Amino acid sequence: MADTSKGDAATMNKIAIVGSGLVGKSWAMLFACSGYDVMLYDVIPDQLQSAQEDIEAQLSALYKEGLQRSSLTLAEVKGHICTTTILEECVTGAIYIQECVPENRDLKRDVWRQIDDVITPDDVVFATSTSAIVPSLLSDHLKKRHRFMVAHPANPPLLNPMVELVPAPWTEPAAVDRARALMEVIGQVPIVLNKEIDGFVQARIQAAIIHVAWQLVSEDYVDVESLETAMSEGLGGWYAFMGPFDVEHINANGFVDSNKKYGAMVEQVQKTFPKPELMQGPAAEKLTRDLEQWTPSNRLADRCRWRDRRMSALLQLKRKLDEE
Ligand code: NAI
Repeated sequence: MADTSKGDAATMNKIAIVGSGLVGKSWAMLFACSGYDVMLYDVIPDQLQSAQEDIEAQLSALYKEGLQRSSLTLAEVKGHICTTTILEECVTGAIYIQECVPENRDLKRDVWRQIDDVITPDDVVFATSTSAIVPSLLSDHLKKRHRFMVAHPANPPLLNPMVELVPAPWTEPAAVDRARALMEVIGQVPIVLNKEIDGFVQARIQAAIIHVAWQLVSEDYVDVESLETAMSEGLGGWYAFMGPFDVEHINANGFVDSNKKYGAMVEQVQKTFPKPELMQGPAAEKLTRDLEQWTPSNRLADRCRWRDRRMSALLQLKRKLDEE
């Protein structure tokens, strides 16, 4: 649960969220849960309307099950979120701007150019939710590029605390410090990259997992259900609580011992990894059929709710264990 007491001094502060889709809505709820005044902007008025309805439904479900990340009431959290179709109204007076428009480089560059043109005080943080575009490619044209960075959430940010902060070569450390401090106030767990790289940390690791999973399924070493089980009932148990090197460190008598015992084996397996390829052709069609049998496309929303309930419960459990 976010420590809202730490955010008390900031309750008069305004957060601008640009784009009210999946990620924009989740950021809006997160900030509102800590008492920030959120203004949510979108180019499509109907989208803003449905975003508000969805936010209400998501928050109500969390509060009903006691899985909310806030000590505020449901009505108070909702009261901290308002919407606008005017970009200038959204960003003016904000201490932090989180852009969440679709993953399109030209669109994002244009949206940031518009934001950059609106006069803002020097300490406002410019943050993009981009999943994989390096920040230098989105900010080289900005007058205020020294305050620009990626703040990439793990989806959905409301239930997944990790946020990767990725500075461009020209981003001032003070801007990253402000973003990091704000993330901590709202109960997120920021990691800061020293320099930019395609996919940052999370999408790179995810790409590596998908790469290997695709080989195992497409070359018929294992069926998709077993592959998924290896993650959810095996590796996932560790990785919900610790990272890959920590796992190796305690699986033997320290990392040096682990490396001595298993390092060559790991290298040997890595040598058998195939070249990267697009997931297409008959193997991709079979994979699609298998996944559809498991969760038909018209049941994806139910499956998301199923996942979100479990992620909320895991988050609460982890917080409780950390307090022990
Ligand atoms: P989405 O498609 O659900 O939402 C995008 C929203 O932006 C829509 O409401 C759309 O109307 C609005 N929009 C389009 N043009 C706009 C403009 N010029 N100004 C303001 N709003 C505009 O997309 P989603 O999934 O929320 O992704 C947003 C960003 O977050 C992307 O960069 C994506 O890569 C990133 N991201 C996505 C994650 C995911 O799992 N979906 C996870 C983490 C980051």
